[in-house]
Amino acid sequence: QHPKTTTRNFDLTAQQRNITIAGQNAELLTYNGSFPGPLLEVQEGDVVTVNFNNQLREPSNLHLHGIFMSPDEDKPHQTVEPGQSLTYNFEAHLGSAGMYWYHPHAHGKVTRQLFEGLSGPIIIRGAVDKLEPVASATEKVLVLHDIGLQNGEVASHTGMDWGKGKEGELVLVNGQNQPEMSAPTGLLRLRIVNASTARYYNLNIRGKRLQVIGMDGSFLEAPLAMERLLLTPGERADILIEATQEEELQLTNLPYSRTPAGSSADTPAEGMVLAKFSITGEPKTIALPTKLTHIPALDLASVTNYKTITFGATMQPLQFTINGKAFDHHRTDLTAKAETMEVWDIVNPMAMDHPFHLHTFPFQVISVNGVAVDFRAWKDVVNVPANSTVRIAIPFTTYKGSVMYHCHILEHEDLGMMGNLEVV
Ligand code: C2O
Ligand code: CU
Ligand code: CU
Repeated sequence: QHPKTTTRNFDLTAQQRNITIAGQNAELLTYNGSFPGPLLEVQEGDVVTVNFNNQLREPSNLHLHGIFMSPDEDKPHQTVEPGQSLTYNFEAHLGSAGMYWYHPHAHGKVTRQLFEGLSGPIIIRGAVDKLEPVASATEKVLVLHDIGLQNGEVASHTGMDWGKGKEGELVLVNGQNQPEMSAPTGLLRLRIVNASTARYYNLNIRGKRLQVIGMDGSFLEAPLAMERLLLTPGERADILIEATQEEELQLTNLPYSRTPAGSSADTPAEGMVLAKFSITGEPKTIALPTKLTHIPALDLASVTNYKTITFGATMQPLQFTINGKAFDHHRTDLTAKAETMEVWDIVNPMAMDHPFHLHTFPFQVISVNGVAVDFRAWKDVVNVPANSTVRIAIPFTTYKGSVMYHCHILEHEDLGMMGNLEVV
């Protein structure tokens, strides 16, 4: 006898809307008229259906970023014409509790559609969400999405923007410029998704440790105390803040340069305040959880299949490449066998960081430039710093089919920095 499963249905309609941002009106692209799109929240074990309807003037589609689901249901190759609909189905697997997000994936149009507003958060809840003190923390979902405006329209990309990845001058949290939120004393839980096309966030709250309890689609085994956390496009973080007394907290973006030689574009040395939290109430003492979950160590000794993924670019025309080739829908670039584990070296010989993303199959990051990573998590995006190599291990499952991997600076993805992996 199986436990009764809950079916959850969501409708997402992509449509243009006039939205007010930081006192300016602009035509944005929205899901269901809101920017960012609505939160889709489900429980582990739920059977989920998302009906996507395209009311834009051009093809689009929907990608449920990071969700462990059949490649046949992910179908990022399939586009949806204006006026048409497409349904995406998945089961929220046990152990997949975490934060995810959705955005368009119509190759060549992804950057502009996302920059103009199309993204939204997804949360899968599981056992850790019911564990104290996490369960009684005050939770805030924060979608980081920068944008540029010009005469009531979203600013267009220059040639330079396509090369570097465009950063909009308005850095928004949930569609607002420096929002102020309130929370009672106790634990504050920030669930953050970097839904920007290209901007990196170097997160910090002055005077506080960021107690990271989750990354991407996974909890960590125990909280990881960090001074600052780099969140690259596509990555998510689940962070506890010990707000023991009345105070104002400022979530700040500290400077970070994606090019070692360059400067950090527009971020001042003291950082840029993204959001403020005013904490009120009686002083509280807080005990952080010590054990959250178990993430198995992978048996790398048994791995016989290694792959190397090397980033590159060509000028005239400007293209970004993986293993020397720009993306082609009809070409299979790599194959892997279902139910085997592989180790991939992601090699970035370029003078610019690139965040690497793999669909469907969560991976563990093993090392960066040969230095072992000292915690375990199931990730789907990892930053590959300039002139660096990141090693990941991917346990393939019973799922078969065509799976994409790409740079999550979406300008680079649209300009070819993507490949097809066929799992057979
Ligand atoms: Cu969020 Cu293929 O991407
Ligand atoms: Cu994805
Ligand atoms: Cu890139």
